[in-house]
Amino acid sequence: MSDPDIRPGETTVELPAPGDAALRFIGRIRTPWAQREECPRQGRMDGPECRIELNPVWHPALNGLEDYDMIEVLYWLDRSRRDLVRQSPRSDGATIGTFALRSPVRPNPIGTSLVRLVRIDGGTLIVRGLDCLDGTPLIDVKPDRCAFTPMAPPKS
Ligand SMILES: C[S@@+](CC[C@H](N)C(=O)[O-])C[C@H]1O[C@@H](n2cnc3c(N)ncnc32)[C@H](O)[C@@H]1O
Repeated sequence: MSDPDIRPGETTVELPAPGDAALRFIGRIRTPWAQREECPRQGRMDGPECRIELNPVWHPALNGLEDYDMIEVLYWLDRSRRDLVRQSPRSDGATIGTFALRSPVRPNPIGTSLVRLVRIDGGTLIVRGLDCLDGTPLIDVKPDRCAFTPMAPPKS
């Protein structure tokens, strides 16, 4: 049966129902974008302020994050299909492998962005540089690796 969401040249695979990973979402991301068409392809540092709302149990985990200007955010692109192997993102019909793209359509739809930390309000991070839909589940937050100095002793 033809699938209206598939473009010419794109291919899919048959997959079992998802359920083989047990991620815990730790909060939600609040952005101005309700529809994919409105959402930037990649976040920009001059983009709008967005809110990363952590579940209360994780608020103490923010201790120390205020020292960083740039942080890495990982999120679950929950409204993506997950079965495309080759994709045709451009209008010229060229197809490209899923792993050669940063498309939200991937077997495990994890998005990552390096964002500017504007401020922390209690358990909410105010950031610029995101590119996800309003309500996107949050997977993780880390300091930018370039600014981070490991706290643990050197490995022998
Ligand atoms: C190209 S992806 C890039 C994500 C991330 N910066 C990365 O490189 O891993 C961003 C696009 O994903 C789509 N998107 C955003 N949030 C989504 C969500 N929750 N579910 C499905 N698609 C989403 C929007 O079309 C947005 O423009």
